[in-house]
Amino acid sequence: MEQYVIKGGKPLVGEVEIAGAKNAALAIVAAAIMTDETVTIENLPDVRDINVLLQAMTEIGVIVNRPDRHSVKINASQISDLVVDNEYIKKIRGSYYLVGALLGKYKKVEVALPGGCNIGSRPVDQHLKGFRALGAKADIHRGRIRAVAEKLTASHIYMDVVTVGATINVMMAAAMASGKTIIENAAKEPHVVDVANFLNSMGANIRGAGTDVIRIRGVEKFHGTEYSVIPDQIEAGTFMMAAAVTGGDVTVKNVIPKHLESISAKLTEIGCRVEERGDRVRVISNGELTGTHIKTLPYPGFPTDMQPQMGVTLALAKGISVITESIFENRFKYMDELLRMGANLKVEGNVAIIEGVKELNGARINAPDLRAGAALVLAALAADGFSVISDIHFIQRGYEDFHLKLQTLGGQIELVDSEKEVAKFKLKVG
Ligand code: EPZ
Repeated sequence: MEQYVIKGGKPLVGEVEIAGAKNAALAIVAAAIMTDETVTIENLPDVRDINVLLQAMTEIGVIVNRPDRHSVKINASQISDLVVDNEYIKKIRGSYYLVGALLGKYKKVEVALPGGCNIGSRPVDQHLKGFRALGAKADIHRGRIRAVAEKLTASHIYMDVVTVGATINVMMAAAMASGKTIIENAAKEPHVVDVANFLNSMGANIRGAGTDVIRIRGVEKFHGTEYSVIPDQIEAGTFMMAAAVTGGDVTVKNVIPKHLESISAKLTEIGCRVEERGDRVRVISNGELTGTHIKTLPYPGFPTDMQPQMGVTLALAKGISVITESIFENRFKYMDELLRMGANLKVEGNVAIIEGVKELNGARINAPDLRAGAALVLAALAADGFSVISDIHFIQRGYEDFHLKLQTLGGQIELVDSEKEVAKFKLKVG
């Protein structure tokens, strides 16, 4: 079983290249099947969730070619099955984008209910509501989302909650419905905009993505395109936080600084220097951080996907910090692991109260999910002594070469496969 072994206590310093956004790429890869012509997608992150989705697509007859690690050519002219259900697809969240894509193109689909990180109950009622509003019969049947329509017809849809997944999914189906659909209370995340731009580059007619009202005029047919995925805002934020928590100096490259504003603002507030230049953001920390209050909110608020990385940083910030998690109810599991590392904190419902300590100590810990796992790696890099982190398959779902990128910043981290290798690492770094 792969693990990370880490010796902490060294500031991370240097530059790191940020990959394409996993959560944008998942939707874009799925949406690429909406045309029979070939679609080329660049800046694709080479992470497990993307590879699982591509594998599931080949199983229904989609032709997938990887000219190199960060690009893919997709041709969906030979789709042979509208049922997507295998062992792996259930483990990822992004699988639900195949529902919107296949429903839009073929008016019929069944996809195994999505899994993904266990960070809350994660219902799909808003997806179903949107598909029904477009005239489809949509339900959950024997563990699958099932949707079928004679014809998709435009509608005026008001989302009850701000949801990234349902906004993108319904936008995809509506892009091939007849007439003009309006989605109100839409999610505004950068990846919603990226998917809309991608669909438009295939011939869709979508306006307003990035605001809370999206207007979609349906078209009958899409064509092939070449498209480059936006940089991953959460991967960038994670490395920015790595600079903060280790008292380091890290520049993230190939980013869109505007997408990082809520993170930059909080880092400045707790005592870091943040410099933006072109497609780079540099974070400098002298390790003297002060606590703050954070509430996770839909974009442009502070992202729930950065909450654990911030929580770890605040565990070492002077004074009392309060974090309110308002998106997913089960995103504080990493706090138990932080306690084992010597943090001083308490969780009550969706609120965590943290009193910063001077030092964390290395420990044997588990990654409870993707972002929390990455956050605990940061904690271990800041802590005194050795840590061993298990269940890193969660981290590999969404971070490309995480440990290698940390190594280039001077992080003492290695991917190991046995206790013998843990011992060897300890001997090597002393
Ligand atoms: C996406 O999940 C991301 N996943 C998550 O990233 C991210 O945390 C989340 O958006 C919020 O930004 C992917 O893009 C694959 P939502 P998603 O629909 O689409 C409620 C990561 O670490 N809701 O925006 O599942 C829901 O319970 C992952 O990369 C409904 O009530 O999130 C939540 O409270 C983790 N009914 C809120 O909306 C629905 O039908 C936001 O969820 C759908 C959602």
